[in-house]
This record gives sequence, C-alpha cells and structure tokens, in this order.
Amino acid sequence: MKMLNVALPKGRLGEKVYDMFEKAGFACPSIKENNRKLIFENEQVGVRYFWVKPSDVAIYVERGSADVGVAGKDILDEYKPDVYELLDMKMGKCDMCVAAKADFKDDRSRTLTVATKFTNIAKAHYASLGRDIDIIHLNGSIEIAPILGLSDVIVDIVETGTTLKENNLVVVERFMPISARLIANKANFKFKSERIEKLMSSLAIQTEQK
Ligand code: PRP
Repeated sequence: MKMLNVALPKGRLGEKVYDMFEKAGFACPSIKENNRKLIFENEQVGVRYFWVKPSDVAIYVERGSADVGVAGKDILDEYKPDVYELLDMKMGKCDMCVAAKADFKDDRSRTLTVATKFTNIAKAHYASLGRDIDIIHLNGSIEIAPILGLSDVIVDIVETGTTLKENNLVVVERFMPISARLIANKANFKFKSERIEKLMSSLAIQTEQK
C-alpha cells in the first residue's frame, strides 16, 4: 500500500485533527505516546504523520514532503502556496482583525502604520480600502506594537479576544473569517487520489456532524 504522508499542526488543533483522521481509518496509536518524537508511522494502515509548526504545514505539502496536511486559511491567504484546498474542516475558527488602542482615531490625511505577521493580507485589505499604509513586519506578540507607539494599528488573528483585552486593545474591524483547511500536494494527489478522496469524504461527514 502507498504510504500517506500527513503534516499535522503541532498543538491542540492538531490533536483534534489526528482524532478525525483516526476515525477516517488512518490510525497510528503510537502518536498518543507522550514523547518528543516528531514522526509516527503505522505501516499496516499505510500512514505516516509529522508534527510541524502550524505555519509550516503548507510548505511541507507544497514541496511534496507531505501528501496532505491541515493549515489555517490565514496562512493559505498570506503565502498562497500552490496546493489543493480540499475541505473546510470547520475548526480552528477565528477572525483576521484590525485592532488598536481604545482611543485610536484614524486620521486619513496621514499614512497609517500597521504592525502584523500577515503582511500580504494587511496590504491587500488596505489596498481594497484605498488607504495608504506603512507596514511593520513582526513575528509575534504583535499586540505590543500600538502600546509602545510602534504602530497605529495591528492586523492579527483574534480567537477569544483575551489577548487584546489583557493588553487594552479593541477590535476596530473584523474583515476575514478563518478556519482550518485540508490541503493536498497537487502531484501526489494524482498518485494517491483514491486514499485522499476516502480521507476527504470521511472528514467531510465528520465536519458536518459537528
Ligand atoms: C495568536 C494571535 C493573538 C492570539 C489571539 O497568537 O497572534 O496573539 O493568538 O488569540 P485570543 O483572541 O484567543 O487571545 P499565537 O498564539 O498564534 O502566537 P504568536 O502570534 O504570538 O506567535
């Protein structure tokens, strides 16, 4: 049997995703053992899982190291990897937002400074509004930028809103709903279409039951 290679996003979302893959017939019990291993394989079923950083899943899939994986719509929109997007998993839901200090007022006569990890998404959003911006690319802890006066606003994902609240920031605008997507490598999909389609239809049934 051809081995199906799966890139899972490390963390709680990835564990839920694994449970769904297990129900779809791709069990790999050793993955539940608590250790620091990153690759798990079940030869009988013909599946190999890798734990990777959530923002790297699409890279493994695009390059073909993984046949399939689960990645957030935020990453797919930001980096536009050349992969098939097969299914909305209806989990890992959050929103791409503009946030700022509560007293922020947009002065349209000035260039707006925007701190974000999602440079392309932020540029496209403000281009659609015809607003001039200056982008400051950060890699994390974006919420600090407006507090220290590094930027006027941030563009970032908001899930529960706790991070914003604890840092005295407010949502100015929610402009893009996000959820996790099943993605596949384009060439590998052809060779393993039967297995990937079986996986996809089982996952689709499971997401509908949610
Ligand atoms: C994301 C995002 C926010 C937080 C939002 O950060 O950048 O900081 O989650 O979640 P909340 O609305 O539930 O508080 P992530 O955990 O991905 O870490 P990082 O951006 O600092 O890398």
